[in-house]
Amino acid sequence: MRHAPQLSRTHTSGSAMLLPLLYILFLMSPWSWGTPLSLPATPPRFALHLPLYKREAAPSVRRRAPKQDAIGLGDDIDITYNVLIQVGETLTPLVLDTGSSDLWVLSSSCSTDCFSVTVPLYPQTSFQPSGLAVRLAYGDSQTGTYAQGPVGKDVAGVASLRLQDQYIAAILETNTSVLQSGSAGIFGLGFPVNSVIWNKLLVTKSAREAVIEDRSHPSFGTRIFPDLSRIRGRRTLVTRGTSGGSSSPSVGEALASFATNGPLLPRLILTGALASPIFAISLQRDTVDIGGNQGMLSIGELPAGIAAENLTWVPLRGYTVAEGGLPAPEDSPNEVYPITWEVAIDDVYFDGRKLPRSALATSNITLTALLDTGNSLIRGPRDVLDAIIAQLGGNTYKCAEAHTLAFQIGGNLYPVDPRDFGSQTFENTVSQCTPNLAVTDPPGSGFLYSWSIGDPFLKSVFAAFYYGNLTHPSQDQPRIGLLSTVPSDAAQRLQAAVQLANATLSGNFPVISEAAPSGSPPSSGTGVAGVPQAHSAPPSQISHSSGATSKLTSPIGVISLLTAISTTLAL
Ligand SMILES: *[C@@H]1O[C@H](CO)[C@@H](O)[C@H](O)[C@H]1NC(C)=O
Repeated sequence: MRHAPQLSRTHTSGSAMLLPLLYILFLMSPWSWGTPLSLPATPPRFALHLPLYKREAAPSVRRRAPKQDAIGLGDDIDITYNVLIQVGETLTPLVLDTGSSDLWVLSSSCSTDCFSVTVPLYPQTSFQPSGLAVRLAYGDSQTGTYAQGPVGKDVAGVASLRLQDQYIAAILETNTSVLQSGSAGIFGLGFPVNSVIWNKLLVTKSAREAVIEDRSHPSFGTRIFPDLSRIRGRRTLVTRGTSGGSSSPSVGEALASFATNGPLLPRLILTGALASPIFAISLQRDTVDIGGNQGMLSIGELPAGIAAENLTWVPLRGYTVAEGGLPAPEDSPNEVYPITWEVAIDDVYFDGRKLPRSALATSNITLTALLDTGNSLIRGPRDVLDAIIAQLGGNTYKCAEAHTLAFQIGGNLYPVDPRDFGSQTFENTVSQCTPNLAVTDPPGSGFLYSWSIGDPFLKSVFAAFYYGNLTHPSQDQPRIGLLSTVPSDAAQRLQAAVQLANATLSGNFPVISEAAPSGSPPSSGTGVAGVPQAHSAPPSQISHSSGATSKLTSPIGVISLLTAISTTLAL
C-alpha cells in the first residue's frame, strides 16, 4: 500500500567484489509439502452472471454482448501498473493497488499541480457528495504521502463490471506522484476494513465530525493501520466506556455496511455479481528484457488455461481484536478477519542461502509479507537487507550476474526473476546494477508484516487473490494462490539483455511505458505454467537515441532512463 514517490536511491559504488557466483535458480523446487487449502468444490468458473447491478438485471440487459471479465494493464516503466476505471462518465487509468482499499480519482477542480494532458481527470458532474472528506495517507516511515478530498457516490466500474452508488474520493490535493506516472488516482483492491472511506462513513454520525484529519495525525509517518476500535463487538456491548457509547456502530452494522459502503470489488462480490470472490493479476515487464507475463487483471474467475489446482494456496493473516482486528459478530463468535493481502512466509533465500530472521521483530510474530502491486520495490527488514547486501559484496553488482532472491511460501520457493532483481545504476552502462530493495518498518503495533513485496516479485508470479466469505471468513477462508512464472533460462535471458544493451542500446536496458488498454490484449502464447505471455516489444518500439539526453522511446511514451532508476513508488 501506501504511497511515496521520488525516493532517490543512494548508489554506493564501492569496491564491489566480484562474486564468483552464478547461482542456478531454484525454481520449481521439488519439494512441496505445503498443504494447499481446500478449494471450493467447483473451482471458479467463467464468471459473468452479469449484470452486476441487480436492479438492472433485466433480460434485455443480459442479452447484450458478453461482458468482459479481464482487462489489460498499463505499465509505467515497471514502477506503476494501472488499469482503466470508469468513474462517473470518466474512463481513466488508476494505479492497481492491492495494498490499499480506497478508490480515488483526481478531480478536475483539484488545486495543486493537477494539470494533465495525458489522462482524464474527474469533472464531478455526477458526483453525489456525502458531506464527508478524507485524507488518505500512504506510506511507512520511509515514504509518507497523502491525497485528500470529498467523499461521495458515483457510478464506478472496471472492464464491463459497473456499480451504482460507489463511494469514492474526489481528490483535490495530493503530493503523490500518481499523475506524473500516467495515472489519475488509485484503485485499492483490499478489504473493506482497510478502507478509510468505509471507516469514515461508518463511524461519522454527524457532519460536524466531517473534518479532514490533521496533517500531523499520529499515525502519519508509520504504516497506516485502520482504527476499528469504535466498532462494538460482543464483549464491548456491556461496557459503557468512552469509546463504546451507543453511537458506536455494532459489528453487525459494520459487516452489513460492506455491501453499501465498501470498496468496489468487495461490493461486486457482496451484490452477487461475480461467479467467484476472486481477482488475479499478472504483471508484464517493461524494463531490462521487455515481455514476461501478460499484464492483466482478471475479475471473478481465473484466466482460461489456469486451474485453481495449479496454484499453491496460502491463508491470509487474521487480526484478532487484541491485534486491532474486527470483533466477531454475535452469530459467529470465532471469526477472525484479515485486514490486508498478507500471507505467511516460511523463509527467505538469497542465492540459495537461507537468510537469518530479522532481530528487529520479536520472534513470536509470525513472519508474513504483504503482496502489494502498489509497491515498486521489495521492502523488508533493515538487518535482513543488510545480510543480502553483505552476501552481494556491496550495494551494487554486475548487471550480468543473475542473483536470486526467493520467498518460500506454503512450502514452495518463489524466486524473483533475476531480470527484476535490480535496476541499472548509471546511465549508459550496464556494468553496475542496484538491487530493487528498500527498508520498511518492523512489525509491532499496527500491521504485523515484515516484508512488503512489490512488483519485482509480482512480475515473477501469477497471483490470485481470493476474498472468501467477506462477512464470515471461517465459512470460506480468504487466501492467495501463487504460481511461479520464472523461466528456467532466466539467467541466460538476463545475460542476453546485457549483451543487447551493450551492443545496440548504448549501454542501456530498454525502458518503455505502456498506456492501459481498454480491453484485454491478445497474448502471444503461454509461458511457464500456461500463464499468458505479453508481446515482447518489437525492436522498432525500442529505439534509442544516443547522446547526452539518452532516451528510450516507445510509441506511447518517452522516458528518461534516469527517471526509471531514481523513482520508486510505495502505495
Ligand atoms: C458467508 O457466510 C455466512 C454465514 O455462514 C452466510 O450466511 C453467507 O451466505 C455467506 N456468504 C456467501 C457469499 O456465501
